[in-house]
Amino acid sequence: MTNSIIIHKHGGPDVMKWEQIPLKSPERGEVLINQTKVGLNFIDIYQRSGVYPLDLPSSIGMEGVGVVESIGDGVENVKVGDRIGYVMGTPGSYTESRLYPADRLIKLPEFLSDSQAAAVLLKGLTVSYLINRTFVVKKGQTVLFHAAAGGVGLIACQWLSRLGVEVIGTVSTDEKAEKASAYGCHHTVNYSREDFTKKVEEITEGKGVPVVYDGVGADTFEGSLKCLAPFGVLASFGAASGAPPVLKIGDLAKKSLYLTRPVLGSHTATNKLTEEIANLLFDAIKNGLSIPINHRYSLKDAAEAHRDLQSRKTTGSAILEI
Ligand SMILES: NC(=O)c1ccc[n+]([C@@H]2O[C@H](COP(=O)([O-])OP(=O)(O)OC[C@H]3O[C@@H](n4cnc5c(N)ncnc54)[C@H](OP(=O)(O)O)[C@@H]3O)[C@@H](O)[C@H]2O)c1
Repeated sequence: MTNSIIIHKHGGPDVMKWEQIPLKSPERGEVLINQTKVGLNFIDIYQRSGVYPLDLPSSIGMEGVGVVESIGDGVENVKVGDRIGYVMGTPGSYTESRLYPADRLIKLPEFLSDSQAAAVLLKGLTVSYLINRTFVVKKGQTVLFHAAAGGVGLIACQWLSRLGVEVIGTVSTDEKAEKASAYGCHHTVNYSREDFTKKVEEITEGKGVPVVYDGVGADTFEGSLKCLAPFGVLASFGAASGAPPVLKIGDLAKKSLYLTRPVLGSHTATNKLTEEIANLLFDAIKNGLSIPINHRYSLKDAAEAHRDLQSRKTTGSAILEI
């Protein structure tokens, strides 16, 4: 048996219940993980609320860190006692112990603590693919990153500025603007009182930006398109404010724009794909990228964590502790 957060129906934070559930032994190719930390991510809210429907009852969560407790037949890439982390796969990281496919595990470098790993794996790998694959940024460019003080946002601000990229970041409060600036955001725009499209026009002297990284969705999507330079790329990678509106393909025509809806699941679909973006992330951390763990909750109190994340109270990364 193990203790897990389980949902029996989709809904608000209170649908999450702390329950004992049975735990099987690992089958061929699987490991049993004794988890220590769990990453809190916006996708957990989509899973809990039903934006991404699950077969119920189910646990939720896509990022965990811990120690390999036992292994099934045929597992060769890890051994009992190894410290590992994982992202994506079958939802269910909100648990003390779980089974997981061995070939999707990420071995943790020694310089990363369990807390740091849970705070950075999913969000950092997302930034890694967004800036190295979705749109390959170059020194000297100016880019727009929405929700710059969020979990993905603070990692992105730092990483981009370290690459010599000028970052325009949107935030909803002055405190968040300070946070984003402290992590390398060059121009903060408070989009709760300023029109971010006008600010981008001013900052770029009417040229627009070559890429907008938009994890906010409904509230920003149309403005994001306006901010792009000719041939610009809108990377619509999330929907914290709701799903973006349906787009007419002709809306891209005026400036020959590109629109993409990338997901970490595709970018970690094979070991090779995962390793490539993980190595870039680990190198960036070795070179000084810091991991802002701004909130810690007990896994049992996941409801409180969800309330804070969805009501925009958090900045940087939050972790759930076991
Ligand atoms: N596609 C992928 O591969 C992938 C992977 C990871 C994350 N994501 C997406 O990236 C985004 C950021 O994820 P995260 O886990 O790091 O979360 P987060 O940025 O820490 O939290 C979401 C932020 O979005 C902003 N926001 C704007 N409107 C909102 C609204 N109506 N309700 C709630 N928040 C709102 C808030 O910042 P302000 O208050 O400053 O506006 C809030 O802090 C999410 O959309 C997530 O789904 C996508």
